[in-house]
Amino acid sequence: MRDTNVNMVSQNAIKEQIEGLRRELNYHNHKYYVENAPEISDFDFDAKMRLLQDLEAAHPEYADPNSPSVRVGSDRCSEFQSVEHRYPMLSLSNTYSIEELGEFIERIEREAADVEFVCELKFDGTAISLTYENGRLLRAVTRGDGVQGDDVTANVRTIRSVPLVLSGDDYPAYFEIRGEILMPYSSFDRINAEREAAGEQLFANPRNAAAGTLKQQQSAIVAKRGLDCVLYQIAGDALPFANHWENLQAARRWGFKISDKMQICHSAKEVFDYIAYWDAERKALPFPTDGVVIKVNDFALRRALGFTAKSPRWAVAYKFKAEQALTRLESISFQVGRTGAITPVANLAPVQLAGTTVKRATLHNAEQIAALDLRVGDMVYVEKGGEIIPKITGSEPAERSADSRPFEMIAECPECGTPLVRYEGEAKHYCPNQSGCRPQILGRIIHFIRRKALDIDGLGAETVELLFESGLIRDVADLYDLRAVDLASLPRLGDKSADNIIRSINRSREVPFNRVLFGLGIRFVGETTAKHLAGFFRNIDALMVAQREELMQSEEVGEKIADSIIEYFADEANCTIIERLRTAGLQFEAEQRALHSSLLAGKNVVISGKFIDHTRDELKELIELHGGKNQSGVGANTDFIVAGENMGPAKLQKAQKLGISILSEAEFVALIAEESDSESVAENAKNEPQNESRNEPQPTQKEPAQTTQQPVQGTLF
Ligand code: IVH
Repeated sequence: MRDTNVNMVSQNAIKEQIEGLRRELNYHNHKYYVENAPEISDFDFDAKMRLLQDLEAAHPEYADPNSPSVRVGSDRCSEFQSVEHRYPMLSLSNTYSIEELGEFIERIEREAADVEFVCELKFDGTAISLTYENGRLLRAVTRGDGVQGDDVTANVRTIRSVPLVLSGDDYPAYFEIRGEILMPYSSFDRINAEREAAGEQLFANPRNAAAGTLKQQQSAIVAKRGLDCVLYQIAGDALPFANHWENLQAARRWGFKISDKMQICHSAKEVFDYIAYWDAERKALPFPTDGVVIKVNDFALRRALGFTAKSPRWAVAYKFKAEQALTRLESISFQVGRTGAITPVANLAPVQLAGTTVKRATLHNAEQIAALDLRVGDMVYVEKGGEIIPKITGSEPAERSADSRPFEMIAECPECGTPLVRYEGEAKHYCPNQSGCRPQILGRIIHFIRRKALDIDGLGAETVELLFESGLIRDVADLYDLRAVDLASLPRLGDKSADNIIRSINRSREVPFNRVLFGLGIRFVGETTAKHLAGFFRNIDALMVAQREELMQSEEVGEKIADSIIEYFADEANCTIIERLRTAGLQFEAEQRALHSSLLAGKNVVISGKFIDHTRDELKELIELHGGKNQSGVGANTDFIVAGENMGPAKLQKAQKLGISILSEAEFVALIAEESDSESVAENAKNEPQNESRNEPQPTQKEPAQTTQQPVQGTLF
């Protein structure tokens, strides 16, 4: 009996761990693929993914078709035309271990004698597939989800290293060539400097800058961004050679930029030497690389080795550990964020790291400094992962001077002198003086005008400071009282820019509710949570009076976020600002949606538990689209409950006592399906691409009937 209990406890712990990892990975996937603003390094992400894959393999009972481990992130973007790849764009299996790489080589050498491996740099940009017909660039498509990508031809045409018309006469009539769009460090530094001056959010790294640039709506902007394109994989009808190396050399003659750092290796030792050489030498390259790709050269052997569902068996990526540098921690200063959070920042003796000079690094919070036992004067290791700001990973104890003193956290706000506070469960210290602390006031206004919030163009951080200093604005509502004459009188602002700012302030009155809500800057309410909240509560009044329980009904809202929302609206000053913004004409109500049916008119429906095919937001939307009302708690007037897994026991008991019917997710969907038209959310919600296992990537499009473009050697992506 006891054993069984222990077992159940540990089973539960594993399930929770798996679910926690899935949540974390989904979050970071979104940050990386959708927002282009990753928060953790590739190394940390891959480590989490591996842990999840291992746990899932050991516990098939917790399998989930929607786990982040079975899908490839998507970078699709609605503004571009979506194109199906003729052959799926697969990824490579990764390893950080020389030992695993050795096993990969051995496995292949067991299959064939005298294997030739081509070693190449793993370029750290964004993947692209170029199609050429009769020597002319036909199309350039991003990887997307691997099956469909975005047509970014107009943008790619602006990249000077991409040939629009090929040279020579021995290229195939039709072929695809794939490679990486890169942003050299020099362009990256220049663009970020420009963005900083304009008060815009900086690109985290050259990879995000390249991906972000490729998705620009105006190709003229792309043209100025200094992108480059290196090609590394080719496929098509009648390629001139039966191996990778010779075809790429031919492609170089046709005008493509092919890396001159490739090398044919005949043994594991040669491969390891190549890696060791480039792990050091890559630091001198003008663009970022994050590993080495090892590919079988011979096409016949590639065909024999085949593919897994996601990647070829004939290639692998060895990833480099994040670069580190050792430098002196000269001092620690403290930054005050818009929410009052205090972030200690390390001021370092300048050091070269991953192509840029590093002078500062984040230290996160006082606990982190204590955990690493960092002291001013220490020699510290700095690392750059996916984050914009490098981090300190440790110190060199042997180099510590005898008179160094342990770090002590400040007790008062460095900006306004208010004693700092700590909130339960929070590692950070906060300055509670929201209305009087300068960086908090400015930070809130700068956040409000951000592109993803109210998108007030022409107003950068500098102008906001200027307006604040001159007494024209103290809070976000003051923006709507500004007149062009007020602005034009400021130094460095002429009539024209004043007019532009006013125009863009006026335009912001049309910005949808979810972005206004995000712009308010409620602690922990990010862009996605704001979207969920706006969809769930539909207007600010409903949100303002919502209780903790009700708030937690909304997707992604836990206790911490719910409490922060309640705290925000409990503050008179915030409510006054909202009223002023409302009077100024801002959107505090979500857009009306057309009803699908009146099947649920007058019905009160409660949603409870976890669901498989829908999020709670989607279910709520479905109820409302059919005329029903979503209730947060079970009561005598509840008509029915849509119950998922783990419905709350209290709700269940109450429902049974009141004799309220309980519908499963499937029953509910069946109920409304009869009434739904073909465009219902219920159907759209399930349009996720399926990942089928196959031995070779199948063409994703039907072959055109009249042509014979079946690539002979060309399925080898
Ligand atoms: S070969 C079937 N070669 O790494 C895989 N990929 O996960 C074909 N990458 O999406 C890719 N440098 O964006 C290949 N020399 C190289 C590469 C490379 C960078 C990227 C590419 C791909 C990812 C692999």
